[in-house]
Amino acid sequence: MNGLFITIEGPDGAGKSTLVKKLQTAVAAETKRPLVITREPGGSEIAEEIRDIILNPLHTKMDARTEALLLAAGRRQHVVEKIRPALERGEIVLCDRFVDSSVAYQGQGRGIGMDKVIAINAFAVEDLKPDITLYLDIASDEGLKRIKSKHSNRKQDRLELEEITFHEKVREGYEQLIEEDPNRFSRIDASQVPAKVFEDAWAILKPRLK
Ligand code: TMP
Repeated sequence: MNGLFITIEGPDGAGKSTLVKKLQTAVAAETKRPLVITREPGGSEIAEEIRDIILNPLHTKMDARTEALLLAAGRRQHVVEKIRPALERGEIVLCDRFVDSSVAYQGQGRGIGMDKVIAINAFAVEDLKPDITLYLDIASDEGLKRIKSKHSNRKQDRLELEEITFHEKVREGYEQLIEEDPNRFSRIDASQVPAKVFEDAWAILKPRLK
């Protein structure tokens, strides 16, 4: 595959969607290579339906392994329908969250175990791995504060509603992943203003688009 697979990761409230929008404009201005912007959970019709089940705040009974399996199932469909074909066509894929989210949120946050979650995701995505992962780093309390103000007039999803201790564990999970694969991850200080977060991200991505 000669495409470029870029993922954006980070705790809730890190500002991923704002960054994705800015990167979309910048990439389009920089290169003629087609760009696919996508997200997880979701990204394809079937996977978006699975997303709704996962994030529904009414689903308080959902077991942690059920959650991990649903995420992996949606991911499988997303990879097969959208990500892999785009990469095979040589396109750039920019995905808001991927396997690392499951390893951090379900593996560490929910306490299933990072290795177990890596294993079920290996079944789902086979050998597909991002080329570059931008990690938007933000303190858990700061991230949650942002979400509460952003969503003040709409409901938060089931995972965002978790206690701060859950979000702190998620962050620990990410730290472990970065330690194990430092070449793939680039850490960006997401407490900065959005323009500076974009500037840092673009300094990393621009040279890789050639
Ligand atoms: P989003 O806010 O980035 O759209 O993601 C929705 C929530 O789903 C967010 O709290 C992170 C969580 N999530 C997981 O727990 N595991 C995963 O594998 C993914 C992709 C997201």
